[in-house]
Amino acid sequence: MIERINGLLEEIKNSTAANADELEALRLKYLSKKGIVNDLMAQFREVPAEQKREVGVKINELKNAAQEHFNSLKELLANKEEEQCEIDLTRPSSPTVLGTRHPLSIVRNEIVDIFARLGFSIANGVEVEDDWHVFSSMNFAEDHPARDMQDTFFVEAHPDIILRTHTSSVQSRVMETSQPPIRIIAPGRVYRNEAISYRAHCFFHQLEGLYVDKNVSFTDLKQVLLLFAQEMFGKDTKIRLRPSYFPFTEPSAEMDISCNICGGKGCPFCKNTGWVEILGCGMVDPNVLELCGIDSKEYSGYAFGMGIERITNLKYQVKDLRLFSENDVRFLKLFESAN
Ligand code: DAH
Repeated sequence: MIERINGLLEEIKNSTAANADELEALRLKYLSKKGIVNDLMAQFREVPAEQKREVGVKINELKNAAQEHFNSLKELLANKEEEQCEIDLTRPSSPTVLGTRHPLSIVRNEIVDIFARLGFSIANGVEVEDDWHVFSSMNFAEDHPARDMQDTFFVEAHPDIILRTHTSSVQSRVMETSQPPIRIIAPGRVYRNEAISYRAHCFFHQLEGLYVDKNVSFTDLKQVLLLFAQEMFGKDTKIRLRPSYFPFTEPSAEMDISCNICGGKGCPFCKNTGWVEILGCGMVDPNVLELCGIDSKEYSGYAFGMGIERITNLKYQVKDLRLFSENDVRFLKLFESAN
């Protein structure tokens, strides 16, 4: 029996396992319930008494040797597996998910770029404004309906403090603190107390323009706006100015561009007129210049204001204004390529 165990010891020492299946086969052969070690233990009863001690020690030696060898083979296999899944630095990484610029930001940046090339710089105002900058300095009569609760959000504790209803308030902020030549644009958010629907929102975005200098004429205004329209909507774009009324400009006009969907032929988008309205403009009313501390005998100026949502709708045909403020990534992702 001793000899047999010695043979088994040798056998165990030389056994190998190339994979988990082979390792399991070894375990079954030597260490399982029906394995060789247990089998020897069962035979131990028949060993003559005088050999019991020696055989007992030998069986134990075999059991320990089998267990140890099994353990070391198991570790070897685990290390091998780990080696195989070491980091491969040459593999391409998983793609990084990039955010997209908001369509209103894309269009605002585009408008700003066009006017920056014409020498306009950006002026900033404030969204929580006072009545003076939004209305009084802009030549709104005391009883003008735009001051009505319907349109204006009042900041409760101060009847004089309101959320600006247009970016024209930046005109007076700039004119009060600087003298001509003034050539600014002011993009920003404005607020009006409107019920939210697909075509109206309680906040939206505008971009204001103001140019004040000596001898500024309506021709200058028209030329700058034509250039803007063609840069924004394409070289073949035509413009048309219709007389209008704003308290802060005299004369005032609304500007249409030839419909950029049908090229002016007439389609449902332009209600078959071939024209779509894009902004309000005019010569700065001398009253406004005076109210803001600029000599209206020496200087004249023009101003214009446009809705950024409106321009974005014309460019991208977004049918529901609410999409702009819902942050639905499915909508925002549509503008990935325009970034
Ligand atoms: N403030 C006007 C509005 O919110 C837009 C506007 C019209 C601005 C004519 C101007 C302008 O500067 O000259 O509807």
